[in-house]
Amino acid sequence: MFEDLPIAKDDPILSLGIAYKADPRDNKIDLGIGVYRNEHGQTPVMQAVTAAQNRLLAQQTTQAYIGLAGNAEYNQAMLDLLLTGNAAYSRSIAMQTPGASGALRLLADLIASAKPNATVWLSNPSYVNHQPIMQAAGLKVAFYTYFNPASKQVDEEAMLEQIAKLGPNDVLLLHGCCHNPTGAELSFTAWQSITELALKNGFLPFVDLAYQGFGQGLEEDIKGLSHLANRVPELLLASSNSKSFGLYRERSGVAIVVGETLQQATNARGKLFELARRSYTMPPNWGASIVAEILNSSELRAQWENELNQMGLRMRSLRKNLADEFNLQSNSERFSYFTQHQGMFSLTGFSHQHTEQLREQHAIYIVGGGRINIAGLAQQQIPRLVEACLAVGV
Ligand SMILES: Cc1ncc(COP(=O)(O)O)c(C=O)c1O
Repeated sequence: MFEDLPIAKDDPILSLGIAYKADPRDNKIDLGIGVYRNEHGQTPVMQAVTAAQNRLLAQQTTQAYIGLAGNAEYNQAMLDLLLTGNAAYSRSIAMQTPGASGALRLLADLIASAKPNATVWLSNPSYVNHQPIMQAAGLKVAFYTYFNPASKQVDEEAMLEQIAKLGPNDVLLLHGCCHNPTGAELSFTAWQSITELALKNGFLPFVDLAYQGFGQGLEEDIKGLSHLANRVPELLLASSNSKSFGLYRERSGVAIVVGETLQQATNARGKLFELARRSYTMPPNWGASIVAEILNSSELRAQWENELNQMGLRMRSLRKNLADEFNLQSNSERFSYFTQHQGMFSLTGFSHQHTEQLREQHAIYIVGGGRINIAGLAQQQIPRLVEACLAVGV
């Protein structure tokens, strides 16, 4: 049966993590895998999460099946979190999924069911899993211009010029905030222009929101998304709680469909049920119940927001100190982009040779392509990191 299968290729990010763990040097720095770390290098369980888990354990009475849509309180809480006050709210359905990855796949399958010839447009570059997920659903994939490697910012003019050519057969996948892997954000004006283009030309916006709260704050990070959702007739949204609740391994996400009418959104939900039924059937419950418990308790919600704010502050402070140190040691402003980027990542443009040398000579681990996870740094490591980067000639 399996004799013709090729030898599996190593996942580049996970294998970097394995190499990091095996490295005996005690001054090693891991800026690879995309998980938030505190100043001590740990990915902590948030205190609001621990409190919610204690409450849930005390209340738990059953582990019986919960249904195709998952936890109803969670679905409502996610809709409230993302779309309260929005014109789209009353035309939306939410369905709990195994992580945003599960939502991306389910929504891709939904597009393939509704419009098999659709093309999904991804930013160049985009989250590494976007292309395989869309293609696994049988969809065509194309790329729109996004990142300008010279300025390290979004090339909005070129991007909008391309998007202006999309029509009803096209789906435009956007990162809600904190773009992975570049860190370069769309301006609010760009979100406004995209909204006008979607209204005029009829393409379907599809937003992937994996880092809410990691940029400028919970509301600020979805300002563009909220504007878009408020105006367009239809929208798809995949959202993750891996980062903003630190629930990476609990696989808690949500798929939201905004329909032209509530009936159409409800029909889409029926299709999503069918699609879920034939693959994983029901999503795991624990992560979603933690999120629902937090969002529905004013005390836990305040605690969670406070912790998330602290994480955002830490990342912004790391960005500032990193840019300052680079500017000081290199005597130039060319690294100021670290403060303009948002969230955990910055695409540095370091070459393959640079990243190899950083790993071999300085025990600094960065993924090929030069994406740095800012949140992997401790403040006191910044001078050594900068010194090493300049020593290898970035
Ligand atoms: C842009 C983006 N979307 C989706 C995901 C997947 O998130 P989840 O852990 O919820 O599946 C990630 C995770 O890194 C991501 O960066």
